[in-house]
Amino acid sequence: MCGIVGYIGSQKASPILLAGLSKLEYRGYDSAGIATMEKDSIKIAKDKGRVENLYNLKETKELEGTIGIAHTRWATHGIPSKINAHPHFDMTESFAVVHNGIIENYIELKRFLEEKGIKFISDTDTEVVPNLINYFYTQETDNSDLRILRAVKKTCEKLIGSFSLEILSKYMPNNMIVVRKDSPLVIGKGHGENYVASDIPAILSYTKDFYLLNNFEYVLLSRDNIKFYDNNLNEFNKESTVITWDAMAADKGGYEDYMIKEIMEQPTAVRETIGSRIENGKCNFSELNFSKEYLNSLHLIYIIACGTAMHAGLAIKNTLEKLCKIPVIVDIASEFRYRNPIVNEKTLCIFVSQSGETADTLAALKLSKEHNAKTLAVTNVIGSSISREADYAIYTHAGPEIAVASTKAYTSQITLLTLLTIYFAEILETITPEEVKNILNGLLELPSKIEAIFKNTDQFSNLAKNIFKEKDVFYIGRGVDYVTSMEASLKLKEISYIHSESYAAGELKHGTIALIEKGINVIGIVTEPDLVKKTVSNIEELTTRGAITTVVANESTVKEIDKTIFDNVIVVPETISYLSPIVSIIPLQLLAYYVSKEKGLDVDKPRNLAKSVTVE
Ligand code: AGP
Repeated sequence: MCGIVGYIGSQKASPILLAGLSKLEYRGYDSAGIATMEKDSIKIAKDKGRVENLYNLKETKELEGTIGIAHTRWATHGIPSKINAHPHFDMTESFAVVHNGIIENYIELKRFLEEKGIKFISDTDTEVVPNLINYFYTQETDNSDLRILRAVKKTCEKLIGSFSLEILSKYMPNNMIVVRKDSPLVIGKGHGENYVASDIPAILSYTKDFYLLNNFEYVLLSRDNIKFYDNNLNEFNKESTVITWDAMAADKGGYEDYMIKEIMEQPTAVRETIGSRIENGKCNFSELNFSKEYLNSLHLIYIIACGTAMHAGLAIKNTLEKLCKIPVIVDIASEFRYRNPIVNEKTLCIFVSQSGETADTLAALKLSKEHNAKTLAVTNVIGSSISREADYAIYTHAGPEIAVASTKAYTSQITLLTLLTIYFAEILETITPEEVKNILNGLLELPSKIEAIFKNTDQFSNLAKNIFKEKDVFYIGRGVDYVTSMEASLKLKEISYIHSESYAAGELKHGTIALIEKGINVIGIVTEPDLVKKTVSNIEELTTRGAITTVVANESTVKEIDKTIFDNVIVVPETISYLSPIVSIIPLQLLAYYVSKEKGLDVDKPRNLAKSVTVE
């Protein structure tokens, strides 16, 4: 996820663009750049590092233009570097583009353009965009405004993935073109000037009058005019919206807290993590080179992490074992590093970490390398310590996660680990094409299934009103539902400070049921079709002892439940078992969030906690 800003008016563009980027740094901050229309050409100032670096660049100080585009990056393709920073030129420097999103088919488009003699200088997916625009532009003859719009439209029709684009061209020195598909983009209407941004907060200080763009609405901006064209390039009138947010709310894109914003971003995070990984029905991990003989030689796969990241490892354990027929141990990094683990060249060690900076996980990684194990990092931050230390690194594309409580990183980690599992199983030939198709389809349906849960969040805020005064809350489940109960319990504890425990439902009678008394809240997760009856009977044992029970079921397991027995029943969309931890955690993330809000706590910065634990 990246942030883009644009300005067209009579003021010097660079200060406005830099101020806008500063407000978008939560969307990405590993490199940044701006481009402005100068007298006879487009000039670019960009570098690795945060937006503040741009202020001091010599090239920035030389930008006098009053039309410009800007970008702050969260690297998805190509490491953070000056050359990979946006904006990107086409080879002839006739077009400059900034892009937020992922071009899933950029490799084939790059090959097509290279065959036409186009030379690329970056490792990014984005660089295909200006070059495609220039390619289609040179195919046209007439010189109307529509010539460039047609070239942009033909380019967008070739792109698979998500994109919001701001485009400058030396052929239209008084205009800018913008268009989006699945990545957000808004236009702020000024007087004699107009603004563009990934989200409203970046430009809310200049105007309250906004156009909220829909997919494939092509926009030609000038200083005094904004022209909208539909997908057939027919001009149309678009209604503007007056935004009434206050400045504080604006910094979180209109959401009250980063945590709720990040919960709501999970469909996009999952979609972008899948991104360009699925190609012709296969999983594409071009950055890995595991052979069949290496994978066959493995005695064990260790997944090592902390907190929520460790729960993501637990959520993939059964899938990995079942599909790859390799034993998997999931371990807490701070335990692993001191237990003299049996690790050697026949062990693959996978390290899961949102920040890529967790001290215990990094130490466990170094220990594994000393024992000659191959090491693979799964992180959300390109260039992080763990991704650099590991032999291999693959990335979730969740975008920066600001709230201390991890949400979109968790669901993105399970998504990416599922894709990795299919990739391994295809190499090992331990999975059938039908199984691959079934799981990949399940992954591709996830964003809409998560979005369906957001349609009725009142059920969670209402339940939170019954729970927020509690001293203890128990979560129980079996199989992957037990894993979900662990993650749900951690979420509640870390942001509401309510004591909570997660328990394997079958384990209750071995001690914990002694704690159950009248009024105790128990939340049971019941999405595993083969375990419904067992778990339900465990929950019934608790209702007979006076517990207040909530069940999280899916559309098929709920049919096997007598709903009258329980105090609350939450139903989530059904998905294949491998993926149910991604869907069933959503209501429980929301529940924890609303409980914390009911208690008037600082949801984004809970007491005693840091976003990344970089010390032991
Ligand atoms: C999760 O909500 C917590 N903030 C915490 O458990 C976190 O998952 C853990 O510290 C690991 O962080 P990492 O993913 O950045 O390594």
